[in-house]
Amino acid sequence: MRVYVLNGVNLNMLGRRDPAHYGTLTLPELEGRIRVWGEALGLDVVCRQTNAESEYVEWIQEALDGADAVVVNPAAWTHYSYAIRDALELLPLPIVEVHLSAVDQREEFRRVSVVRDLAALTVSGKGSDGYREALEFLAGR
Ligand code: DQA
Repeated sequence: MRVYVLNGVNLNMLGRRDPAHYGTLTLPELEGRIRVWGEALGLDVVCRQTNAESEYVEWIQEALDGADAVVVNPAAWTHYSYAIRDALELLPLPIVEVHLSAVDQREEFRRVSVVRDLAALTVSGKGSDGYREALEFLAGR
């Protein structure tokens, strides 16, 4: 089972962002953990991050033929990007939405997710373990 793990805007700055919300792992460290978890679950995990919304949309479109499931952390795009929502709507695949921080307990604007209803599961506030939960969920389907 091939799973795309797509991290969005500013997540390349992990390790330098507020550790109270995002922890202390850098993106390469986080992706390293995700790969180890994926391997242990027998998943073929592909991790990517971009700050360009158009690239993120293209990767979702690529998942149509290239993946069996997607884990998305669209970061700030979560809260307003109908382009990313429309791309995800194309997928006849399981989608898991992950946020490192507890988005529902932060500022009002973070409580809105324009992709949440498309996700089979949303995990937030569990730090890097949220990605493990997402992979375990997908492996169990
Ligand atoms: C985030 C939460 C978003 O509100 C924020 O803009 C991010 C990361 C998270 O993983 O907690 O950049 O998606």
